[in-house]
Amino acid sequence: MARLAINGGQKAIDRPIGGPWPEFGDMEREALNSVLESRQWWRGGYADPSESWVGKFENYFSRFQDCEYGVALTNGTQAIELALKAIGIKPGDEVICPASTFVATATAVILVNAIPIIVDIEPEYYQIDPAAIEAAITPNTVGIIPVHYGGYPADMDAINAIAQKHGLFVIEDCAHAHGSQWRNKGCGCWGDMGCFSTQMGKTLTSGEGGIVMTNNAELAAKAYAFHHIGRFPGRPFYEHHIVASNLRMTEWQGAIAYCQSLRLLEQTFRREANAKYFEDGLREIPGVAPMERRPEVTRWGFYFYHFKFQSAEFGGISKARFQEALAAEGLGTGSGHLHPIQKNPLFTNRNFGPVCWPAGRDAPDYAAVETPVAQRILDEEGISMGHSLFLGGRADMDLMLDAIRKVRENVGELA
Ligand SMILES: Cc1ncc(COP(=O)(O)O)c(C=O)c1O
Repeated sequence: MARLAINGGQKAIDRPIGGPWPEFGDMEREALNSVLESRQWWRGGYADPSESWVGKFENYFSRFQDCEYGVALTNGTQAIELALKAIGIKPGDEVICPASTFVATATAVILVNAIPIIVDIEPEYYQIDPAAIEAAITPNTVGIIPVHYGGYPADMDAINAIAQKHGLFVIEDCAHAHGSQWRNKGCGCWGDMGCFSTQMGKTLTSGEGGIVMTNNAELAAKAYAFHHIGRFPGRPFYEHHIVASNLRMTEWQGAIAYCQSLRLLEQTFRREANAKYFEDGLREIPGVAPMERRPEVTRWGFYFYHFKFQSAEFGGISKARFQEALAAEGLGTGSGHLHPIQKNPLFTNRNFGPVCWPAGRDAPDYAAVETPVAQRILDEEGISMGHSLFLGGRADMDLMLDAIRKVRENVGELA
């Protein structure tokens, strides 16, 4: 029997695996150089905005996700804030968000003076649970922010049906879902607006950045004004119509984001092909299981790949112990995020900043909000793997499977 690396044995993975991230080449070099030489380092220097790099990125990537309009921004957090403002959020409105996500999904709600209501996720797919949404609706509920967590599409049919029934808006948080499709159409096009981040780790990156997209011309015009200090297109430059910030993406970011968006489809196919091979291998190892794909998930452009760990099949060891042993074998894994978001100190200590909720409206006592499915998956079951691990070749998948198989076969050493 091989000795586990955690006990001083040879590592199952003894070379770097996956791809370097981000990938780039002459396309990015030439684009950046062209920004430099053009002396137009912001999009406002172009009479025709579609000729700017930011404009090219907006047009290409929005359509790639099946949206007509896109406005590129400084980051994904502000994309959600902007979408909420464009939709007309009011102080004290309640917006339903999932427990398993990055904190920005819900802090963006607080930043526009509304109240996030945190609900649990589905045990099978780790996405916001439509039944939990329905149960959380009150007369103050105005909208839902589903997150395509890890890039796996949330159940947009069920979510949109609930939204329609109760007259709610839907803003998709697509920060993890570049390239993902629900029933052959891009994440971001199913709700009223879709919000993407292009921060460094994301599968389409410009270092920092984001984009909000929509198929609704009126919302697109509002998004434009909210990202551009309240300007309306075609009006004089120093004429401002609404109170708004400057959330414009620079041409440097636009150039990189556009080039990266041209790489996205091939990278998504490469990751998916590797993941499917990895899943076949996982199915043969007792005690681990892939995230099954529901038929509506026609493309999973994952930001992190989730699989499921069953402690009972591993002699009762904890998930943390399994991950320690895997890390020693050379396979670093995570859990997505640390807590269900409402268990972060900012929520439990109510450090909300200068919110102004109308009399009679208040946030729930988040410390008392339990989301047992999200908690159990974080503590016991869900194992996440970074997307760049899947950018290498089949031999890397075999090494990853070897590491998992080795821990399973020698689990007695971990008792
Ligand atoms: C689910 C989710 N929403 C929103 C954001 C915010 O994006 P940004 O970091 O670009 O502000 C992130 C960032 O990681 C995220 O993971």
